[in-house]
Amino acid sequence: MPFSMPPRFPIPSHVGIIMDGNGRWARKRNQLRTQGHLEGLKTAKRIVQAASDLGIACLSLYVFSTENWRRSAGEVGFIMTLVKQYLAAELEFFRKNRIRIRHAGDSEGLPPDIAEEIRRVCRDTEDFEGLQVILALNYGGRDEILRSIKRLLAAGVVQEDLTEAVFRGYLDNPDIPDPDLIIRTGGDFRISNFFLWEGAYSEYLFLDKLWPDFSEEDLRDALVRFAGRERKFGGIPGNPADGIMA
Ligand code: IPE
Ligand code: IPE
Ligand code: MG
Repeated sequence: MPFSMPPRFPIPSHVGIIMDGNGRWARKRNQLRTQGHLEGLKTAKRIVQAASDLGIACLSLYVFSTENWRRSAGEVGFIMTLVKQYLAAELEFFRKNRIRIRHAGDSEGLPPDIAEEIRRVCRDTEDFEGLQVILALNYGGRDEILRSIKRLLAAGVVQEDLTEAVFRGYLDNPDIPDPDLIIRTGGDFRISNFFLWEGAYSEYLFLDKLWPDFSEEDLRDALVRFAGRERKFGGIPGNPADGIMA
């Protein structure tokens, strides 16, 4: 049975997840960090399915940051291979569920075979109108802002024309709405360079659970907690005049 929420429950259009805690999950079991990444991948697959069943429009997964290159070559290579295998193996699943894969991050800094695989899957799924899964891979918020500035300069945008809306158009995925909710697993209270521009008014949820232990039920809980948040975007809901001195 597909995973569902009660009727008329507000479902966020875009959920981002900082999938942290794979290494600690493995260490707790006296296993190699790579085993944690394998388990993390299984969780990611389940959460993609759950997000699709719930009718979430966009799911961003922080897979590998621009800072994660600081890890050992073995761990980095393992993660890259895992991503490549995942994309190749899941194509049929993406087709069946009409899931569109997108990439956020610097593809030029990726190993050429990984960049090519991502390009291929993005192309092969581009007409699918179901859940959009944005894989943040070799992604950094600061790096995205710099690459966006370079793109807008190359396009000849002049200072007088530069607004927030124009800038937004040069981000990695300009048509994807800002995330409503960003979840971080693994117990740390930081965003580690994820969606600096897009997350300006996201609701944040920091959870202790390590990513491999995150379940469909945890996603559902997160949506319930999100529904209980009051989003104000700097305004005064219900009474716009409140706070203005006569
Ligand atoms: C997140 O888990 C996956 C990546 C950053 C690639 P970690 O590998 O950071 O796990 P911890 O934080 O060391 O437990
Ligand atoms: C954030 O996790 C990046 C990803 C989940 C891909 P990290 O483990 O890299 O973050 P820090 O180093 O604890 O800030
Ligand atoms: Mg970590």
